Amino acid sequence: MAEHDKWDDIFTRIAVPEQFDETKSRINSFIDSHKALGKDVVLVTSGGTTVPLESRTVRFIDNFSVGTRGSSSAEYFLQHGYAVLFLHRSRSLKPFSRHFSRLSVLDLIEISCTHADLETLTVKDCYRAKIKKQLSLYESVRQSGSLLCVEFTSLADYLYLLRASCQALHSIGPKAVLYLAAAVSDFYIPKNEMPEHKIQSSDGALQLSLQLVPKMLKPLVKDWVPSAFVVSFKLETDEQILVKKSKDSLTKYQHQLVIANVLDTRKQKVLFVSRLSEEFVSISSEEMAAGIEIESKIIPAVKQRHHEFLNQRQS
Ligand code: PMT
Repeated sequence: MAEHDKWDDIFTRIAVPEQFDETKSRINSFIDSHKALGKDVVLVTSGGTTVPLESRTVRFIDNFSVGTRGSSSAEYFLQHGYAVLFLHRSRSLKPFSRHFSRLSVLDLIEISCTHADLETLTVKDCYRAKIKKQLSLYESVRQSGSLLCVEFTSLADYLYLLRASCQALHSIGPKAVLYLAAAVSDFYIPKNEMPEHKIQSSDGALQLSLQLVPKMLKPLVKDWVPSAFVVSFKLETDEQILVKKSKDSLTKYQHQLVIANVLDTRKQKVLFVSRLSEEFVSISSEEMAAGIEIESKIIPAVKQRHHEFLNQRQS
């Protein structure tokens, strides 16, 4: 089978997401409106994909990613003037609301009585400043229409929506940035090999056979968005193999940048690997304790590289 058919083939073996046509037209309108304004647009992917074991899914395989990297990066991209298409795992962290992810609505509000003995619900004093800050940031983003959030759950949803997003972004050429922070499953069960109903434990021990998911970076760089600035991520638990794997990825897929991170230190240190250089971006322990996020340094560094790339294309 030709390499091209291998990537295409997976789309015939996975289920089309629900309401795919509606979601595709939301994505297309978002990109078209920012194209008309001449804005830079970034696609941020975030969170992990699930791999269902049954068509009427009860059980699935998942991974650790909660979307911290993607959701915080989306906020900094917005701050730096980008329109953001945020393709994220449903119920993973989202820009702005992520700041309250450890709290329930019941922690944030209280019942208070006015002098007329009327009961009202008010925000607790200790959270007021924080909520006001995030709410006003969110409100100005909402009014400018510069953020579109699109949800996925399974690997199949992710792949279809990734391809649709890239095909829409193609029209803005080098003004598009792809920032692929999602942790995507490397294995899946084709739909024709998946049982329809819940697998029964009474049938005994379960043996699974999973197929390999082709790396979508290949068609993405070559066919879907050939003029875009593409940033992939590489996560390892063994630091020793990180640089080699990142360089191999650049050679294989011919994109612009790999951001390499190690599972345990990913919130404090990453390595930018490009064809010509390797550079650490990090925050100190003091900065971390003061609530500074590494993405506040990653995004300006990505923007600088993206603009150098744009200038080279335009000169
Ligand atoms: O969400 P958090 O908890 O904050 O965690 C953030 C993170 C650690 C998940 C993130 O920083 C990160 O490193 N994401 C990439 C994880 C990874 O190593 O992916 P990978 O080696 O499977 O894929 C490498 C690149 O190829 C990724 O950019 C991925 O988007 C892309 N890919 C992967 C699989 C696939 N079939 N096609 C792809 O294009």
